[in-house]
Amino acid sequence: METRIADMLKAQKGRHLSFHTPGHKRPGADITELSYSDNLASPCGVLAAAEKDVAEILGADRSFLLTDGSTSGVFSMIYALRLSGGRRLALPGFSHPSAFHALKALGVEPVPIDCEIAYGIPRQPETEAIERALKEADALFLTSPDYYGFFAPLAAAKALCEGEGKPLLLDGAHGGHLHFTKDHAGKFADLWVDGVHKSLPALTQGAVVSGKGAWVERLQQAVLYFRTTSPSYPILASVEYAIKYPRNVRLEGLAEEFKTRHGCVKNDDWTKILVPFGGRAEEAEHALEKKGIYPEFCDGNYLLFYLSPCTKLRELKILGKNLLKLPRGRVEKDAPCGAIPMYGERT
Ligand SMILES: Cc1ncc(COP(=O)(O)O)c(C=O)c1O
Repeated sequence: METRIADMLKAQKGRHLSFHTPGHKRPGADITELSYSDNLASPCGVLAAAEKDVAEILGADRSFLLTDGSTSGVFSMIYALRLSGGRRLALPGFSHPSAFHALKALGVEPVPIDCEIAYGIPRQPETEAIERALKEADALFLTSPDYYGFFAPLAAAKALCEGEGKPLLLDGAHGGHLHFTKDHAGKFADLWVDGVHKSLPALTQGAVVSGKGAWVERLQQAVLYFRTTSPSYPILASVEYAIKYPRNVRLEGLAEEFKTRHGCVKNDDWTKILVPFGGRAEEAEHALEKKGIYPEFCDGNYLLFYLSPCTKLRELKILGKNLLKLPRGRVEKDAPCGAIPMYGERT
């Protein structure tokens, strides 16, 4: 598929003298908004065309490219809710800090959804708990997939929201690679974020926020508040490229086999490999780092390894070989969750 932004950047290479920002004056792909490169706040050229392609792929009525991470998408969704008159948002306590920061900054009240922690992992909420919280709120906010690779009960959540006439907001910061599947946020949500840089080949901070129906206009207004006015073209180009990147079905299958072979936690998302080490997790992390192998994080119970369609089979094999050499401990049922950003720290 055509990569519109990257193609535009290639076509212009070497053809102009830079009397514009950025100040390094060696723009290459790092140009600013010029006559031929469009304007992200009111796109009508190459960025409009790229956003249209992206919206089509993600199942949105309108998608907005973000160079400020999923954080700006989460803020935009919650501000769009505020613009509709929403004042209370039901969400699980393990939602990303960006959601709690947005609530605080925008004066929206959190309505906590009860969730349990089992074997050190914060579990997605049960439908009954969502239903209870939603009754007290104007909208529902879920994260799917979560940091540990579990999907929220999306079909049930959508049905509850439709029944109550309240919008469903999904944080898919970890789910951009799912747009090929029935589990993608776009199949369920009114507003959602795809955090393209986490699980697809986009530059760090690349993300998309999307909306459907009447939410599009509010979202359009909201993104103006939370996006930079100096978007990075390398990031924009990489977001479009990543969303158009082909599915790697072979790797998806091999990742699931890998999880079984290495006693990993059975989760929903092929890109998240969750290896239990119990009290030996940090020791395992240090041993792997000595070999140049870096997981996404160690939470004191598990090491989490994140894959993407670009992970090489050779690299997965090296990881497997090294995991076999490491002693494991048990994770107890009542183990606390050791991952820092999820609990507390709601400043
Ligand atoms: C669930 C979730 N939502 C939102 C974010 C924010 O994403 P970004 O770092 O791209 O701003 C993160 C980042 O880790 C996340 O894990």
